[in-house]
Amino acid sequence: MTQIITISNHKGGVGKTTSAAHLAQALADLGRNVLLVDFDPQANLTVLFGVSRSDAASYLLTLGLGAAETSLVQSLVVPLRERVQLLPASAGLSGAQAQINASGRGIDWVRLTLERFLRHDLHFIIIDTNPSASGIQERAVWAADLLIIPSQAEALSVSGVGSMMKMTRTLSEQHNWPGRVLGILPTMVRGDGTAFMPREHRAALEEMRASLRDDLLLPVVPDRAALKECAGKSQTLFEFDAENPAALCYRQLAKIVRSAK
Ligand SMILES: Nc1ncnc2c1ncn2[C@@H]1O[C@H](COP(=O)(O)OP(=O)(O)OP(=O)(O)O)[C@@H](O)[C@H]1O
Ligand SMILES: [Mg+2]
Repeated sequence: MTQIITISNHKGGVGKTTSAAHLAQALADLGRNVLLVDFDPQANLTVLFGVSRSDAASYLLTLGLGAAETSLVQSLVVPLRERVQLLPASAGLSGAQAQINASGRGIDWVRLTLERFLRHDLHFIIIDTNPSASGIQERAVWAADLLIIPSQAEALSVSGVGSMMKMTRTLSEQHNWPGRVLGILPTMVRGDGTAFMPREHRAALEEMRASLRDDLLLPVVPDRAALKECAGKSQTLFEFDAENPAALCYRQLAKIVRSAK
């Protein structure tokens, strides 16, 4: 059955979109079929793959759940690579956000809208969210079987992780969230083992280790300029520089996701 993975953090610029794209491609390389869903009005995931912005994700959230709406939304999915598809976004998602709030949609609304994609041959849906605690973001977290929280290794980012963990506790206690946190993904960490690691990064990683259960710390994604360069070419790192340490890290993450229950 399809597993839904949400990549989220209230904080901006922590590597959510980069991680969604690379996790999707790494899972595809392991033979899994993946649908990426762009739930950010900035549409960075859509643009990263060189796809035109579209109202597909807005329609998903604002149309009803009937057969006609389902086939319309399904027809807006864009094939990206072998085994990877995308439901693109546009700035119109801000309007969808307002509509969801005004119509008082429940916490399960994103999950309900995604159920039309659940199939035995679609292994993963990976959702990229915007950097806020908005109605769509909260519902996208609730929709997740597994939540991944990317975070830079900096003091402020570590407090952002605390706020996300608090949100998941609230979702569990007040809304019976059926999913779980797969883990925190430290991103853009300078110096990986061999090179010197800045004191701030080391301290932040130590704080994460001290405050989280051991199994919640996911592989550390190193800071690599190639991740920015490949985005400019609408490529993933696997196409641009397959042996880059950051690419190896996302492959390792995909193996953890593949075996997660
Ligand atoms: N490991 C990394 N090393 C170097 N640059 C990175 C790394 N991960 C992401 N980046 C770059 O950092 C910037 C922010 O990354 P990204 O867009 O993935 O973050 P985000 O959390 O999705 O941001 P937003 O909150 O705006 O949606 C991008 O330019 C991206 O290419
Ligand atoms: Mg983003």
